[in-house]
Amino acid sequence: MFRNFRMVSRVVFGQGCFQQLGDILEAPRRLNGSFMVFVVDDVFKFSSLGQKIPVKDGDMTLWVNVDKEPTTEYVDTLVDEIRFFSPNPPAGIIGIGGGSTMDLAKAVSLMLTNTGSSANYQGWDLIKNPGIYHAGIPTLSGTGAEVSRTTVLCGPDKKLGINSDQTVFDQIVLDPELILDAPVQQRFYTGMDCYIHCIESLSGTFLNAFSKSYGEKALQLCRDVFITDGPKRSFETEENLMMASYCGGMSIAYSQVGICHALSYGLSFVLGIHHGVGNCIAFNALDEYYPEGVDEFRKMMDINQIELPKNVVAEIPTESLERMTDVSLVLETLWENALGKNWKAVMTREKIKALYQRM
Ligand SMILES: NC(=O)c1ccc[n+]([C@@H]2O[C@H](COP(=O)([O-])OP(=O)(O)OC[C@H]3O[C@@H](n4cnc5c(N)ncnc54)[C@H](O)[C@@H]3O)[C@@H](O)[C@H]2O)c1
Ligand SMILES: [Fe+2]
Repeated sequence: MFRNFRMVSRVVFGQGCFQQLGDILEAPRRLNGSFMVFVVDDVFKFSSLGQKIPVKDGDMTLWVNVDKEPTTEYVDTLVDEIRFFSPNPPAGIIGIGGGSTMDLAKAVSLMLTNTGSSANYQGWDLIKNPGIYHAGIPTLSGTGAEVSRTTVLCGPDKKLGINSDQTVFDQIVLDPELILDAPVQQRFYTGMDCYIHCIESLSGTFLNAFSKSYGEKALQLCRDVFITDGPKRSFETEENLMMASYCGGMSIAYSQVGICHALSYGLSFVLGIHHGVGNCIAFNALDEYYPEGVDEFRKMMDINQIELPKNVVAEIPTESLERMTDVSLVLETLWENALGKNWKAVMTREKIKALYQRM
């Protein structure tokens, strides 16, 4: 069987296109005459972007905090707040922020129309009802959350996405102005998420021409941004980074990520390390599996003057290491993509723990 996946229905791209958001939201507003909910990273609360959001009377703005990566508990709380705000469902959920905020917006949209806790839907195709109209507006580029069919959440016992066709955004707004001032380190870590998506997708056993086409383009754009341009930033570099993220996300739509992501999920779940930096820490320990990619990644770190946190796993208690290993082993399709159907024979618990201990 070939996967028949849904894609983002509408895309607007270009410098300053965020100004069109008000007009874009007119159609969904008219459809059910209800209010909009803007789910916005609270880092923008007092910024010029915060002032430019086309909020109308009767709309709701939820300033969300993503110091911790999104949890199922946080999603459930936000959904309760919206239900408390109005007994009627909103016309749309608009996520403005990095991968964490976009994921919160996706999850809230789904949980307004599906009963119970969001933790019950972590997995593949467990969502029963279509979500509320939802739009994503990245302020960081690299995760590919703007195009993916998942919203990654830390639940009571695992970090796992709600993967479904309903998760995919109805609209995305890709405006390089919104990512231009992102802090250097964060931009690099999130950008490396994209680079690692490409390396894992292109070297995986699930690869097909669809994934390869997008993955190769995304990889080239990452090289343009992080090697050719280096620390230099302009609208052009940020446009390229936005398109790298988009193409990297499209590449994994039809394939999968691999070992680095499986290990990085364990790091986030147990140590609260954010996805981008967690990927970089994990990838730096994976010479054995992705030798050329790891070499090039180190070159990118040098050019962009990035220093990775060191010895993050060395001192942790044994039970935390075991927990981390459990979390990474839940991600069977990632291991299978990286190592083939017989991955269990190759990647033992001991091997995983040894890799963690190098981080
Ligand atoms: N859904 C998917 O397909 C998918 C894919 C990969 C990762 N993810 C998820 O995405 C999250 C990581 O997202 P991310 O790397 O984009 O970072 P993020 O959204 O977690 O944000 C990181 C930090 O940057 C800040 N920030 C965001 N934009 C900013 C800007 N323009 N200026 C200044 N500060 C800004 C945030 O407030 C936060 O402190 C993780 O939770 C991960 O699990 C999702
Ligand atoms: Fe990722």
